Amino acid sequence: MQEIKIELTKTPKQKPQDQSKLGFGKIFTDHMYIMPYNKEHGWHDPKIVPYQPITLEPSAMVFHYGQEMFEGLKAYKTEDGRVLLFRPDKNIARANHSNDRLCIPEIPADDFLNALKTLVKVDKDWIPTQPGTSLYIRPFVIATDPFLGVRPSDTYLFIIILSPSGAYYESGLDPVKIWIEDDYVRAVRGGIGEAKTGGNYVASLAAQVKAHDEGYSQVLWLDGVERKYIEEVGAMNIFFKINGKVVTPMLNGSILPGVTRASCIDLCKHWGMEVEERRISVDELVEAAKSGALEECWGSGTAAVISPVGALRYEDTVMEIGGGGIGPVSQKLYDTVTGLQTGKVEDTFGWTVEVDG
Ligand code: COI
Repeated sequence: MQEIKIELTKTPKQKPQDQSKLGFGKIFTDHMYIMPYNKEHGWHDPKIVPYQPITLEPSAMVFHYGQEMFEGLKAYKTEDGRVLLFRPDKNIARANHSNDRLCIPEIPADDFLNALKTLVKVDKDWIPTQPGTSLYIRPFVIATDPFLGVRPSDTYLFIIILSPSGAYYESGLDPVKIWIEDDYVRAVRGGIGEAKTGGNYVASLAAQVKAHDEGYSQVLWLDGVERKYIEEVGAMNIFFKINGKVVTPMLNGSILPGVTRASCIDLCKHWGMEVEERRISVDELVEAAKSGALEECWGSGTAAVISPVGALRYEDTVMEIGGGGIGPVSQKLYDTVTGLQTGKVEDTFGWTVEVDG
C-alpha cells in the first residue's frame, strides 16, 4: 500500500453553523485526496492537500468524451465519537467495475480504502451529527490526456472530495412524486448503464427537467429497448411492495447495482420478507395500483438513503401509493439503515468500517 503525503491547510474554513441548512453537496471540507496515474508509474504519489481548484488542459479528454467514473458513500459520527463508513468495500468494488467498463485503470482496493479512511480522519471535525446528516464522500477519476482523438486516456487523476450534507431531497423523508418516462431512455443493455459515470446522468437531464416542470421530483426509467420494464430512478434504485412481497427490478446490465439496494434486499430477507428481483412491467404496476395490490414504493440510494414514493405518474395515470404517506417497510428500512450507519443499531452484518483515531 502506498504512503499518503499529507499537507494540511494553513487557512481552515469556517464549518457550517446550522446543520439543518446543509442541503446536499454544496459545502466542501478543508482537504481533498489526489493521486495521478500514468503508464510509467501506474497510480502513484497519493497526497492529501488543501481543497483547491485543479488545473487541466482545455484539451483534457474528460471534457470531450466523458471518460470519468464517480462513486458516492458516506461517513457518520456515532454518539460515542467513533467514525464509521458504510460498506466501503462495495463502493470500491463497484468503482473498479465501472473503471473496467470505461477503460480506466483499476485502483488497488487497499489504496482506495486507505485514501477514504485517511481523508475522512483528517477532516473528521466536518462530519455533521444532526439526525439525517452525514459527510458525503465523492471519489472520482477523470481522463487528463491533452488529446482530441477518441481512445482511452493514458493519464488520469483520482480525486476524493468531502461534503457535509443533509437530505438529498429538500422534502427529507416526506414521500416524493415520480414521473415514469416513456419517451427518453437512460441506458440500454450493453451500454454503460451499470457503470457509475457522468454520461448516464447527463442522459437523464432532459427528462428530469420535463418531470420537474410537471411537478415531479424524479424520473423513473423504463428499459431502453421495449420501454416496458421498470429500471431505476435518476439517483436511486426502486422497490415496490406488491401483495405483501418486496419486488425490485433485477440487475440486467443497464441498472446501477446500488449499495443501499443490496442492503434493502438483505434486510428485508433477514426480516423474513419474500423478496423478488425480477422484471416488472409498467402495466403490472398500473394494474397493481388499480387493484390495491401496490402497497408501498420507495427508492434507495447512498445520497437519498430510503426515499418513500407517494405518487407515480405514467402517461395519464396517476398512481397514489399508501395514501401519499410513509409506508411501514420504508420507515423500518430508513430507521435500520441510518441506525446501522450511525452506530445506533448493532451491526450484526459487519457492514460498518471504523475509521480509527
Ligand atoms: C449517490 O447516491 O451517492 C449518487 O451517486 C447519486 C447521485 C446522483 C447523487
